[in-house]
Amino acid sequence: QGRTRINRALSGEVPPGPLLVKGWVRTVRRTKNLTFVALNDGSCLESLQIVVDTDLPGYAESTNLGTGACVEARGELVASPAAGQPWELHAHELRVLGAADADYPLQKKRHGFEYLRSIAHLRLRSNTFGAVFRVRSALSFAIHRFFQERGFLYVQTPIITANDCEGAGEMFRVSTLDPIDPPRLDGAVDWTRDFFGERTGLTVSGQLQGEAFACAFSDIYTFGPTFRAENSNTSRHAAEFWMIEPEMAFADLAADCRLAADFIQYLCRYALDNCSEDLKFFDNFVEKGLIEKLGSLADAEFQQLTYTDAIKELQASGRTFEFSPVWGSDLQSEHERFLSEQVVKGPLFVTDYPKDIKAFYMRLNDDGKTVAAMDCLVPRVGEIIGGSQREERLDVLAQRMREAGIAPESLGWFLDLRRWGTCPHAGFGLGFERLLMYVTGMTNIRDVIPFPRTPGNARF
Ligand code: 4AD
Ligand code: MG
Repeated sequence: QGRTRINRALSGEVPPGPLLVKGWVRTVRRTKNLTFVALNDGSCLESLQIVVDTDLPGYAESTNLGTGACVEARGELVASPAAGQPWELHAHELRVLGAADADYPLQKKRHGFEYLRSIAHLRLRSNTFGAVFRVRSALSFAIHRFFQERGFLYVQTPIITANDCEGAGEMFRVSTLDPIDPPRLDGAVDWTRDFFGERTGLTVSGQLQGEAFACAFSDIYTFGPTFRAENSNTSRHAAEFWMIEPEMAFADLAADCRLAADFIQYLCRYALDNCSEDLKFFDNFVEKGLIEKLGSLADAEFQQLTYTDAIKELQASGRTFEFSPVWGSDLQSEHERFLSEQVVKGPLFVTDYPKDIKAFYMRLNDDGKTVAAMDCLVPRVGEIIGGSQREERLDVLAQRMREAGIAPESLGWFLDLRRWGTCPHAGFGLGFERLLMYVTGMTNIRDVIPFPRTPGNARF
């Protein structure tokens, strides 16, 4: 008789009768003749109640049966007389596989998220983080399913690279941890300690390599870790985060927006259909109305606003912002939230940003001032997607690079894609953690990523 996961026992999938379960004790309640153990194995939010008769052989010795202990229980699965739980296990045999001392840091009381971050290796055993990481896993699968159903090729782009895709100077440098040579006294950087003498960093985006793949496989996507050495002391920025980057040949900005809206709606619908128990938990304890919000988003039409109109809306709003909105400067998160929460009251695309505040690869519009860019903004989180139609004209791209201070020769291979068989193409990047914040209602990016990489947080 093999171990049964607790979600299967609780869902009625398993017939009543003999059962073996293993997991970690959430709570223990003792009465004179019976002990009730709530056992959780991470397969679902609920715990299985194990009813232990104090006469059970060996029970007297199991004094180390406390919160946090790892336990194996063999017994009969029976309909439970208690309210709120359909099934319980009457134990014939109980074994403590790993005891937990009374100083186990996750006691029954509710802990604050900040404290739980300091025990990132144990917070996984709490209700909230159990739900977060089940949703994260389910949506990772849904992401692949969405693109595979549509015939997109999955490509793994490199993590170590010499290319600063966004040109924002936010790359972490890659070098050996232990100096091969003693540090230079004059303080100069010794590039021989870098990538075999080449200057490299951790990728900020897989887009450039993704474009090469799109110019061979038509429709592709990446899904992997990306790194940014930017100030990560906000609730929406992490130094290491996961990004999904589709890239489509023969697509313009409108097609790009359509794919982005379909994608977000698909993921919301997938979560509603496959993570209902966990979403109910978030709706109850984290964000009231979450399920209704996701349901309406899954059916909603996404609004669209040009950057120029967005600036006008902000200026006409009569609101005082910390940074006053002026044409030519980037939208701040206060502006993004105002647009999606007050103006549109839902998700929206802002398109056609001024070229000087966007990356060099975005396609120049006919006005010569703006580029075919789009950001998708959602209430509460702000930007969750950034994308664009790409500049496919060799001469325009080379000129844009020079304007941005990038030597065209340094990205010769990228220009080659425009030299030989260029085609219109477009793509975007969805920040996976930002999406998870939206879907779960969690308000800090540190609480939707397994072991957050933010300042002061690298020890786990
Ligand atoms: O807007 P970004 O910088 O766009 C790109 O990297 C493009 N190369 C994408 C593309 O067109 N293929 O980043 C895309 C998304 C943002 O909208 C945001 O959701 C997320 O990545 N993101 C971050 N998430 C967490 N922490 C950070 N520091 C992030 N920086 C960007
Ligand atoms: Mg962006």
